[in-house]
Amino acid sequence: MNNRREDFPLLKRHLNGFPLIYFDNAATSLKPKQVISAISSHYETLGGNPGRGTHELAFETSKKIAQTRQLILRFLNADDSYTVLFTKNATEGFNLVAQSIGKDPAINAVITTELEHHSNLVPWLQYVKDKKIVVVPISSDGLLKEEIIEQTLKNEKGSDLLAITLASNVTGQTISFDKILPMARAKNDVVLVDATQAIGHKKISLNDTPFDFLVASGHKMFGPEGIGFVVLKKLHLPRMIPLLYGGGAIKTVSTQSFKLLEDLEKFEAGTPHSAGISGLHAAITYIQEIGIDAIYAYESELKEYLIQKLTKLPSCRVLGENVPHGSPICSFVHETLHPHDIAEYLNEHGVAVRAGLHCAEPLHKALKVQGSTRLSLSIANTKEEIDYVISLLTACFQKYA
Ligand code: ALA
Repeated sequence: MNNRREDFPLLKRHLNGFPLIYFDNAATSLKPKQVISAISSHYETLGGNPGRGTHELAFETSKKIAQTRQLILRFLNADDSYTVLFTKNATEGFNLVAQSIGKDPAINAVITTELEHHSNLVPWLQYVKDKKIVVVPISSDGLLKEEIIEQTLKNEKGSDLLAITLASNVTGQTISFDKILPMARAKNDVVLVDATQAIGHKKISLNDTPFDFLVASGHKMFGPEGIGFVVLKKLHLPRMIPLLYGGGAIKTVSTQSFKLLEDLEKFEAGTPHSAGISGLHAAITYIQEIGIDAIYAYESELKEYLIQKLTKLPSCRVLGENVPHGSPICSFVHETLHPHDIAEYLNEHGVAVRAGLHCAEPLHKALKVQGSTRLSLSIANTKEEIDYVISLLTACFQKYA
């Protein structure tokens, strides 16, 4: 496929006098015009408060929300044993599960990894105080080895909760659950995956890998900010408690007490971000129209090209250099230059990247680096842009190192 630059209006702008080159897609993806116009059109044609009004505008908005839940399930190849809860972002999704299933007495330990983004670590540390949190270490090459997770599962005898990323937001490594999932099933574990850095880049089929919980955010898959979701097996709903209480989730209320609605509805108190849901609907439709396999192929080629060039630069080390490709994310360190200085140099020349710990401090500590500079790619990027950024890095290293 050809790159999709034309779909992204933001790429028409300049950054510090240079045409913008965007390599920060893992922080938030660019929004295609299809998504932007779906959000405008939401306010131009829908706009009612769903589940509250007794008029057509409210009904139509409710319908759009129901359609989006179905679209998410179809996109992830999930059967009707699954349902979708909307959240404001992925972080809220992790918190929702941690403060209910994480505290469930039937859970023996939480098993997570050193590869995780803070949002898939801090909620467990905050809410799960009365049980063990086992953190699977990464290897010195920056990779998380599936065998170590498998060994951890063998060591932990009880029914555990696994909270593991599908793709690292630092190295792009994806984790294969081919062996892990059957092992987890055999010991009645609950498996939650952080899909934020995988979902818009690589096919996920819940029919083939039936995770219990999948957490994602809209803004990393071409959708707007302020909308995320948790796809979960319905059988877990009775074990869960809401994160928020208030209007829209209530069956009956007195001044002294209240009764919650059943099932899904009790988890989504307050007016939902229905324009965000319309934007998310358009984002998933956009991905489907291009085809997730075509996206994966395009981005894989680009990432390989980037890694080849980066590894040839002097004094430059790519974190998890030999990562089997998963997500188009690549972070590197320079022997002497600070990641923020490198990012600042690129910014001055029109290139947006992320530098620092990327909300993955334990991973950087394990790799014994202060931080890294991250380039995260998308279908809007090109090999010419990679050549340009490599020439900038070469000039930067020559001038300052
Ligand atoms: N989680 C986002 C990132 O990796 C913000 O940059």
